[in-house]
Amino acid sequence: METKIWDMRACHNDVTQHPDIKEIKNVVEQGGLIGLPTETVYGLAANAKDEQAVSKIYKAKGRPSDNPLIVHIHDMKQLHDFTYNIDPRVIELMTAFWPGPISFILPLKEGYLCSKVTGGLESVAVRMPSHSVGRQILQAINEPLAAPSANLSGRPSPTTFEHVYHDLNGRIDGIIQANQSAEGLESTVLDCTSFPFKIARPGSITASMIEQVIPNSVVESNYNDAAQPIAPGMKYKHYSPETSLKMITDLASIAQSSMTNFSAVAFIVPKDKQRFLPKEAKFIELCNNDQDIRTANHRLYSILHDIDKNDDIKEAYIYRFELNDQTEAIINRITKAAANQSVEGREI
Ligand code: TXA
Ligand code: MG
Repeated sequence: METKIWDMRACHNDVTQHPDIKEIKNVVEQGGLIGLPTETVYGLAANAKDEQAVSKIYKAKGRPSDNPLIVHIHDMKQLHDFTYNIDPRVIELMTAFWPGPISFILPLKEGYLCSKVTGGLESVAVRMPSHSVGRQILQAINEPLAAPSANLSGRPSPTTFEHVYHDLNGRIDGIIQANQSAEGLESTVLDCTSFPFKIARPGSITASMIEQVIPNSVVESNYNDAAQPIAPGMKYKHYSPETSLKMITDLASIAQSSMTNFSAVAFIVPKDKQRFLPKEAKFIELCNNDQDIRTANHRLYSILHDIDKNDDIKEAYIYRFELNDQTEAIINRITKAAANQSVEGREI
């Protein structure tokens, strides 16, 4: 299949100016797959009402079909078509954080979305992205779009057009080219099917940000429990680069380690930790310091893609931040990337 490239960088304020906007709508209407930029990561989108189109998503990614997809909307009015009984506190959270990097798991109203989207569950995850191009495309198509991250199963999520192209060229109908995703980690997934709510996947919208809007609304959850996660996707191995990747907490200990040859070793660490590294080692700047988590989130996946492209890097070490509300999401992704190869399966 020839994968079309629709470059929207010159018309990101008004995508209707793009000569191919009709073609993009037609592709989705006819059950095709498109790479869609969002502020978290690029998505692989199809009409969430079209069973065959959604089946193609799983096939193109090589993704297990028991792993449900997030449905993307551009207007809260769309919610009434396929959800019901939404807790008013969830509406408050949507008003506070949407459009933006948080997905809400809600009770599913049967019969509107195709069943493959939700993998047979009685709930559905919904998100309204804020990315200017992604949002306008959703508006132009005006259908709910199911979209997982636009990578091959098991590979790091894509934060640039090039990442999507690398993994999915020839496997999907087209890719909308826009700038790098601003956030860089997948959305927070919040299970709102019962109260208090539970984090099913940590993201840049943290439990304490949610509790600033609704006090005492988030309880500890078992998203790290590989056997019984709330989000089925969390049980699969994710985000792995091909290069060997290990986590490192104590950089000062490198000097005492038995390792002697660092010329093919990269250290992905904050800039203020560079002074601890052996001179011959490659330094890859993750962010400025332990407080600069937004930059680390933004860069992480690009760095993981880059180390695979660089033949001079045989081994990489990545800095493990101390756990707090802000670092929870990146530690979750880094832990999976530096897998922990005992976790079976491949995702997302
Ligand atoms: O930022 C994002 O969320 C990106 C962009 C494209 O929007 N999408 C994304 O989708 O990361 P995906 O499919 O890679 O991850 C969706 C996660 C999976 O872990 C899945 O198991 C979980 O959400 N999920 C989806 N629907 C669910 C449901 N009804 N109940 C529990 N977990 C659900
Ligand atoms: Mg994914």
